[in-house]
Amino acid sequence: MQLSCVMQLHYFSGCAILCLLMFHDKCLAYKIPNVDFEMLNERGFEVSIPDEPGMQRVFYLFQIDESCPALMDYITEPLSGNWVSKQKFSLQNNDKIQISVLVQYNDEIYEKSETRVILNARLLTTRDTKSQSISHPPDEGICQAYFNGEQETKPCKQAQTIARQGQRVCQGDLLFEDTFNTAELNRTTWKHDIRQRMYHVEEELVAFDDAQKNSYVREGQLHIVPTIATEVTEGSFKLGDRCTAIDSPEQECSISQGSFYTIKPPVYSAQLHTRNSFSFKYGKIIVRAKLPKGDWLFPYIMLQPISTHAESHYAKQLRIAYARGNAHLRSIQQEDISGNHLYGGMIVWHHGRAVQFLKERLSNVHYGDDFHNYTMIWNRDKITLMVDDEVYGELYDGLPFFNEKCFIIFGVTVGGFLNFDDNILPRDVKPYKNREPRAALAFWQHRDTWEPTWGKHSAMVIDHVRVYAE
Ligand SMILES: *[C@@H]1O[C@H](CO)[C@@H](O)[C@H](O)[C@H]1NC(C)=O
Ligand SMILES: *[C@@H]1O[C@H](CO)[C@@H](O)[C@H](O)[C@H]1NC(C)=O
Repeated sequence: MQLSCVMQLHYFSGCAILCLLMFHDKCLAYKIPNVDFEMLNERGFEVSIPDEPGMQRVFYLFQIDESCPALMDYITEPLSGNWVSKQKFSLQNNDKIQISVLVQYNDEIYEKSETRVILNARLLTTRDTKSQSISHPPDEGICQAYFNGEQETKPCKQAQTIARQGQRVCQGDLLFEDTFNTAELNRTTWKHDIRQRMYHVEEELVAFDDAQKNSYVREGQLHIVPTIATEVTEGSFKLGDRCTAIDSPEQECSISQGSFYTIKPPVYSAQLHTRNSFSFKYGKIIVRAKLPKGDWLFPYIMLQPISTHAESHYAKQLRIAYARGNAHLRSIQQEDISGNHLYGGMIVWHHGRAVQFLKERLSNVHYGDDFHNYTMIWNRDKITLMVDDEVYGELYDGLPFFNEKCFIIFGVTVGGFLNFDDNILPRDVKPYKNREPRAALAFWQHRDTWEPTWGKHSAMVIDHVRVYAE
């Protein structure tokens, strides 16, 4: 049999594969069978497909959690009736593995891919493509895959972090940075929420807007500044087309006579996010910030899955750091829950209830007195929380939502039923009740109790944010 050797570049499952393929004009239909997959006891896994007369070569490509480079194996001979590939990569819970197979059969190339998810050491097949002969390679090539070790371009310890689709990421790579050293806030990176949050019995007492006075960059720092309305009147409040509400635009974009609340927002503030410009899964995020000080103020420095919007109600959150704005606040149990108490962790929702997995650190000063470096190291199996290089908590896998790509949110809000939970606060310490229909009005009417605690320190100031691959 006469074979001609052709070098061909195939774009395949997001990775460019350099294949040495042999062609001949003979063509017999062949269907690649399902790939047998086995987790090996020690570490690693094994895949195989059965041999059939006519099979000449098998090429496997494994992409784990969409990261590159992919693992590859080129098999030239069957082993006891199977085309087997053993890989040393140890798969973790929640890993998604895409297995692509190219088979050279009677000199024609056939391909097939399958996606599997590892769940508690079991395997679920989630998606299969049909086996097909390839004459037109798909053109979605994004990243370069490498044969084992041969074409490494730089020393790189492969990171588990996933940022851009198909991007090759090494541990320690800086993936995102904003030092706010530009004259203006970069509005390509950061998008504002524009909506009012007091539409609901349990919500917050602010409207978020993109006004210059509520968020701006000055001297290399981002300022998010809550401002008190000069008057709070009954009547309509409309954000019109600028409104970014997703879940309840009817309530969040306007307040009109006859709606639940009929007063204008007592406080204006800002919340901004990177949902459209940057998201990542696993990594280390460091935010150097000064938290806001003032009664009933609450900072958002957090991550949220891209399956949600910044505007989503009851979205799961990874809180990088928060401390309440109050200088003095104690729970019913006499626990200090003032701004001296720092928290970080995860919030998920179960049947409409918040389930919080928080770690905390109590200081003898308010966290808003000074800048601190707040760090969250988000690994495949663990979240580590740090302040100024001191670890104050770790959360382990088994919790929901360790495996979704997330974006960054910064904001300052007022109130909030979860942030200032009536169930843990003594009666009447708050000038309003969360579930009271006119909470915003009560809050505004009692402003003599909180307004004096606000001042130039009631802004949240962010010096920089950086995300590194882990
Ligand atoms: C704004 O950020 C984008 C990336 O999000 C970047 O490409 C662009 O250069 C930035 N603009 C300025 C003026 O720095
Ligand atoms: C916080 O980070 C900055 C720069 O990233 C560094 O200069 C400073 O020493 C850090 N501060 C603390 C207390 O760790």
